[in-house]
Amino acid sequence: DKGEYRHFMLKEIHEQPKVVQRTLEGRLGDGQVMVEAFGPQAAELFAKVKNIQIVACGTSFHAGMIARYWLEELAGIPCQVEVASEFRYRKVMVQPDSLFVTISQSGETADTLAALRNARNMGYLASLAICNVAISSLVRESDLTLLTLAGPEIGVASTKAFTTQLVALMLLTLALGQVRGSLAVDKERQLVEELRRLPARLGEALAVNAAIEQLAEYFADKNNTLFLGRGAQYPVAMEGALKLKEISYIHAEAYPAGELKHGPLALVDSDMPVVTVAPSNELVEKLKSNLQEVRARGGELIVFADGRAGIENGEGTRLVNMPHIIDALAPILYTIPLQLLSYHVAVFKGTDVDQPRNLAKSVTVE
Ligand code: F6R
Repeated sequence: DKGEYRHFMLKEIHEQPKVVQRTLEGRLGDGQVMVEAFGPQAAELFAKVKNIQIVACGTSFHAGMIARYWLEELAGIPCQVEVASEFRYRKVMVQPDSLFVTISQSGETADTLAALRNARNMGYLASLAICNVAISSLVRESDLTLLTLAGPEIGVASTKAFTTQLVALMLLTLALGQVRGSLAVDKERQLVEELRRLPARLGEALAVNAAIEQLAEYFADKNNTLFLGRGAQYPVAMEGALKLKEISYIHAEAYPAGELKHGPLALVDSDMPVVTVAPSNELVEKLKSNLQEVRARGGELIVFADGRAGIENGEGTRLVNMPHIIDALAPILYTIPLQLLSYHVAVFKGTDVDQPRNLAKSVTVE
């Protein structure tokens, strides 16, 4: 039931504060993540983990790419991320003491399942599934599971499954950092407090809806768009580009902003909007000079940033103001406006938002 919403996708976007809350519930203790949430044998197992291999497809793959920044920066664990369709068919050199992590909304994606089945004979310590469906092949066949509690996702374009995956992956980062002693106690406490506030912050981010709806018309006649981000915002940009492609059928490509000069700048003109996620962090000054390069070539910018980033609305720059959030959680918050952007562009163009052409909700064949 779509309730008051015109589409399931819009309903699911608005459910995010609630389902993020649910995914956190019972998993946070006093200043710590509860490692038992990953299963009774998790503490002993996590203590041995020296490497992580993440495998997933599509949106779930983007969640894995963001987790890599977290696992390496916060928990100090080397991490590799790969799409399942590639992982399953290549000769992989497995690092000793590696944990194999799959991410999937449905738990039935053929390539992800095949990768898990291959991994069983490859010498991994154990497998962990981050999954939204409790009764699924992926959960059944994995050693450990952490369920995302997003509830059924009906819209083909994944929204609330993605943000709850990110929450689950942050819990994994904190749990591994805690057990291995590689994350400072104070830092974990701070992140746990910020996670508790996250549902409210997501609610604030949803308030940009009206501002984004006004941008939809501008995009509707465009054929190409570029999405830029740096650091963990690069996969956020990838996810934003995927959403726009899927439901509005506008070609969208994501680039790490530092790569602009190495090719894509040649494409920039006033007909190609450049969408940028720019939370204030240590990379924002570099990002701002990338944006100037775009402006200098007549490119039109759509920027999502908080007040501290020092980016202003003006000629050729449409700024959407975001609430400020601790940098580690910014990828979760900045996903919201990009979901809303693709949604409103699709509605404006009149596409079938919940059932995009040629796509299936669960890809159970290769
Ligand atoms: C994008 C989308 C797909 C899925 C992908 C993996 O909006 O929904 O890219 O993310 O097919 O599906 P799961 O997560 O079920 O394994």
